[in-house]
Amino acid sequence: MATMESLIGLVNRIQRACTALGDYGGGDTAFSSLWDALPSVAVVGGQSSGKSSVLESIVGRDFLPRGSGIVTRRPLVLQLYKIDEGQEYAEFSHLPRRRFTDFAMVRKEIQDETDRVTGKSKQISPVPIHLSIYSSNVVNLTLIDLPGLTKVAVEGQPETIVLDIENMVRSYIEKPNCIILAISPANQDIATSDAIKIAREVDPSGERTFGVLTKLDLMDKGTNALDVLEGRSYRLQQPWVGIVNRSQADINKNTDMVAARRKEREYFATSPDYGHLSSKMGSEYLAKLLSKHLESVIRARIPSITSLINKSIDEIESEMDHVGRPIAVDAGAQLYTILEICRAFDRIFKEHLDGGRPGGDR
Ligand code: GDP
Ligand code: NA
Ligand code: MG
Repeated sequence: MATMESLIGLVNRIQRACTALGDYGGGDTAFSSLWDALPSVAVVGGQSSGKSSVLESIVGRDFLPRGSGIVTRRPLVLQLYKIDEGQEYAEFSHLPRRRFTDFAMVRKEIQDETDRVTGKSKQISPVPIHLSIYSSNVVNLTLIDLPGLTKVAVEGQPETIVLDIENMVRSYIEKPNCIILAISPANQDIATSDAIKIAREVDPSGERTFGVLTKLDLMDKGTNALDVLEGRSYRLQQPWVGIVNRSQADINKNTDMVAARRKEREYFATSPDYGHLSSKMGSEYLAKLLSKHLESVIRARIPSITSLINKSIDEIESEMDHVGRPIAVDAGAQLYTILEICRAFDRIFKEHLDGGRPGGDR
């Protein structure tokens, strides 16, 4: 079990090092293919379906701008690192030397950094914001928050925005290693779900799509979502998970995460409709499900990731031979970091394989 956790941790560290390296080495190196080979989780759905709220719940921290209308206007690539002890903190790649321990300030920086690129308009930008969170309360994961799919341009937006958002979302979720969290609100008919529509397009067999049904608390009285949650309306290979996030009134009252989770647990435990499913509902369950799925994905990819890593090691080594001493100090340090991580990765993979207990170490 410790082995798998350290593997996922290493995957995260490689992704971070690759990010820090930026476009160093050009677009078509072993790094970019390594990045594409590593799994991540992207959140898709219509505007205000609850995407940012779901991400926050998975992280267990309040730090994302949420609300009605188009709030998320740039992709946010969020890397979670489990640390053993110490105070949790966050870091942006555009502010490398600043540690955020106040998560309200993280939210403010996301808003400010969004505005820096898009202006205070309702425009969007495909340039991602990279944020890392270090905490003892998270599972090692890379999560991507994306602008919501819309149907029409509103005042101040160019007509192309509908397609621009769709293309941006597609560019993330079409990667075969992207796990899709398809968010649909329970108070709309699932047949009209933008999330399911685009997820089905890139993942027709539904093997890497998790259906998440938010706003169960907002359904009309006398109706329930059992047909969806039990897989009768739209079948996916992964189970559907129902969620109750904070309402706008809760957000306005500053209801905290602990209270929100308690309320969600109570909602399912006492629900006449969903009581029998309560152990498989809610944000905490979703986080565990994702982490388990990620483990199995990484396990299955071990051979291909290992060979890519070896290719990366070769590439870095020859790069270093060639340059002698790295020219750019930062890039050089990052290369060393990646090399170090890759070697550790390779070693742990080998130990893992030599252990000869495929799937049996948990
Ligand atoms: P996004 O635009 O998809 O990222 O959605 P947000 O997370 O920003 O949420 C949009 C609005 O819907 C906010 O006002 C949330 O409070 C509200 N909301 C999201 N999920 C739920 C839910 O499960 N129940 C209720 N009552 N409101 C929700
Ligand atoms: Na919104
Ligand atoms: Mg959002």
